[in-house]
Amino acid sequence: SFKELVFSGVQPTGNLHLGNYLGAITKFVTLQETHDCIYCVVDMHAITVWQDPAELTRNTREVTAAFIAAGIDPKKNIVFNQSQVTGHAELAWVFNCVARMGWLNRMTQFKEKAGKDRENASVGLYVYPNLMAADILVYRATHVPVGEDQKQHLELARDIAQKFNNDYGDSIRGRGFGDVFFPLPEPIIQGPATRVMSLRDGSKKMSKSEPSDYSRINLTDDADAIAQKIRKAKTDPEPLPSELKGLESRPEADNLVGIFAALDHKTKADVLRDYGGAQFSNFKSALVDLAVTKLGPIGGEMKKLVQDPAHIDAILADGSERAAKIADENMKAVKDIVGF
Ligand code: ADP
Ligand code: NA
Repeated sequence: SFKELVFSGVQPTGNLHLGNYLGAITKFVTLQETHDCIYCVVDMHAITVWQDPAELTRNTREVTAAFIAAGIDPKKNIVFNQSQVTGHAELAWVFNCVARMGWLNRMTQFKEKAGKDRENASVGLYVYPNLMAADILVYRATHVPVGEDQKQHLELARDIAQKFNNDYGDSIRGRGFGDVFFPLPEPIIQGPATRVMSLRDGSKKMSKSEPSDYSRINLTDDADAIAQKIRKAKTDPEPLPSELKGLESRPEADNLVGIFAALDHKTKADVLRDYGGAQFSNFKSALVDLAVTKLGPIGGEMKKLVQDPAHIDAILADGSERAAKIADENMKAVKDIVGF
């Protein structure tokens, strides 16, 4: 059995938003109390689509600042950027040779991100899930807090771990690891905001790439911007229901109630108990107050932190060194197992 270890990552692709915060970063903060955690700025994933180099550097620092501002302690945990630890790319190559074409062909995120022009998508975008499996497994991590959109990639990581353990079983045995080298990593996807939707369209997830700025709340938004976006958020004309089943087929209402619940550490049922029967104008006012109270200080702290890039770079350098110690040792074992 494996020691519990948490790994997760966020891409430095700009526009960090409320979905990243509620679906991932707040979970990172909670888990640091009970687990050893490794939190990674996945800059190698970012370049699967074109990134301006100067902006990539800036965004890497911004994600790091968001981690710190949200309450992640970089001394207690490992906070670093992916490109600085060579084991990620090395293990990804091994996994390129373990994963099957058919497995990757089933990944819905590739289909969404590549769109109609598949011939012109980068090869990196296609094999991205293999690199993600390597990110997790190069530390032999057991638990991965992520949003709902990453569920299929986690299933692939488990399939890859299992196939590696089987294919190389004879070589694994007798080296002191027992019968299996990699754990099958488990996603941690729970709570009322595992899939935060666009504020303009309840059928689309809130995302960094959505062109409408009113579709998402960015972590660096000031109080006025947060208030405007929530007031403009799409709703329907009915008052809020008082029971959960009243949210069915009301995606925009469901989304705002979920956001409220997650920000206030409650369940959606709790929120409906308090606001059932309320008009959206009143509920939105309460949500503005809550969101400004919770997010305002984080955005402010992020802006302060990015003023001192040397401090952030030092955090990443220290984290990378500590991450590499673990990854290098595991890669040494992987190379022995594979026969390199
Ligand atoms: P994005 O999907 O915004 O480009 P990433 O791929 O870097 O961002 O995702 C970082 C984390 O944020 C992942 O765990 C992902 O599942 C989570 N996440 C992204 N968007 C949302 C959302 N709308 N709701 C909940 N979690 C999300
Ligand atoms: Na994502």
